[in-house]
Amino acid sequence: MAPFKIACTILFCLLLSSRSRCQNTIPHLAKKGNATQLIVDGKPFLVLGGELGNSSASSMEYLRPAWEKFKAMHLNTILSPVYWELMEPEEGKFDFALTDSIINTSRKNNLKVILLWFGSWKNSMSCYVPAWIKTNASRFPRAQDHTGRGLEILSAFSKNNLDADRKAFTALMQHLKETDRTHTVIMVQVENEIGMLTEARERTADADKAFNREVAPGLMDYLIAKKDSLVPELREHWSKTNFTASGNWETVFGKSLATDELFQAWYYAKYANAVAEAGKKVYPLPMYVNAALNYRNVSPGQYPSAGPLPHLMDIWQAAAPAIDMLSPDFYNPFFKQYNDLYTRRNNPLFIPEIRLEPSDAAKAFYAIGHYQAIGFSPFSIESAPEPKNEPVGKSYSILSQLSAEIGKYQGSGRMDGVLLDTQTRKQEIICGDYKLSVAHDYTLGWSPEASNPDWPMAGAIIIREGDNDFIIAGTGIVIGFSINGTETEKAGILQAEEGKYINGIWKPGRRMNGDQDHQGRHIRIPAGEWNIQKVKLYRYK
Ligand code: DGJ
Repeated sequence: MAPFKIACTILFCLLLSSRSRCQNTIPHLAKKGNATQLIVDGKPFLVLGGELGNSSASSMEYLRPAWEKFKAMHLNTILSPVYWELMEPEEGKFDFALTDSIINTSRKNNLKVILLWFGSWKNSMSCYVPAWIKTNASRFPRAQDHTGRGLEILSAFSKNNLDADRKAFTALMQHLKETDRTHTVIMVQVENEIGMLTEARERTADADKAFNREVAPGLMDYLIAKKDSLVPELREHWSKTNFTASGNWETVFGKSLATDELFQAWYYAKYANAVAEAGKKVYPLPMYVNAALNYRNVSPGQYPSAGPLPHLMDIWQAAAPAIDMLSPDFYNPFFKQYNDLYTRRNNPLFIPEIRLEPSDAAKAFYAIGHYQAIGFSPFSIESAPEPKNEPVGKSYSILSQLSAEIGKYQGSGRMDGVLLDTQTRKQEIICGDYKLSVAHDYTLGWSPEASNPDWPMAGAIIIREGDNDFIIAGTGIVIGFSINGTETEKAGILQAEEGKYINGIWKPGRRMNGDQDHQGRHIRIPAGEWNIQKVKLYRYK
């Protein structure tokens, strides 16, 4: 072979092997600027997900009609439970058939999977632990209330409980490592909505003993080192004892239900960490825990307490380094507020659950655009009655076209999002030299429905591709432009086109002008419509 040909062959082989090495890397998280990306097959992956209803994944027959729905809604990922009781019906005998069917069918349908480990705890309770655990409370102790009565919640203070959970979870991860060679499973949720209920903390003898011991040095050292950057809720609580730095839990934090909750959180988090750590040892997929939010402001014990809640972020982060993210489940209307809370302490935002409702369409744009979220996932996605018309599916269609661009601009400071409704009708965004005044479509007053007091939520993602070039995608918004910080110069629309990304390549459609941009005054995507527009601006005096 001629030397040139040999050199080319070697180069080709090297390229090929580095490419396949890249494709074989385990899904993982990577920092990019101020964002965290989920890297799958060597590329940033945006989770356009949907979580299955709790019992749906126990029957492939039941799920049969769902796969077409997922396609119609442009999902790229499903979040599916793994039920401990079905996976280990007899101690030490594992049955992965159901999980394999979910994974294989997802793969065939071009979907990735996030597995939800319904292990020791599911929405506080221990309903998914196998019968051999449920019926043997002397070996697998339960939490107790203050009267000494057992709760249907496994105790976080029992080594037997932890060992059993950890063994089962490790078996699952080992199985995934051996069988899921093409990485259909991209992430794992450890337990589900951990939280103590009816009490702020457990009352078993072991729990009481731990409560009266010194606060673990692991936590104390962490709190001392991070005293000035703790979440304000925790800092304020600790300040009541003048930041006492040694002693038992009540000495350090004072006597209160809030202290009881802190204590329980530390032990829940240690437990979840031990499970995650053991699983990661065999197969290190990204792992997160999810939280039932206490938005009604009731006392610890009356809401699922001690889970990965905003005021307990430091406790969870200190106790659980093997957990990559603390994630909010949204069943309340305070979307911005809780996302703000969950993006503190460098916590990457992933929304594993949100009630399936029309506003999800706008919220997905906002979470991904503004908070650089890793992904979004309405709950009980298979129950969407009309998948083709499901609003979040329309947003996913746009977001899936844009996912390469989103991956490129995440963490760069050039991407933002807006969320508008009847209360918040306008928002300003500074993008380089320009100020974008984004308003709800109904502020124009052109829609006959604008007189309805409840406006549909509107949302958009805005990417500044170049100094004067923007990608604007979303639903229900109208955007005016000005030059930031001066009135002597104005901003005009040089050109706007709608279009589609097909396999990552922009294919322009209509040139938007005249009535569509109000003769150059603004960019508009009407409510009830979804669109991507590429916009070029210019300055004039
Ligand atoms: C939140 C839980 O995490 C889900 O598993 C499910 O129980 C929903 N709540 C039901 O609304």
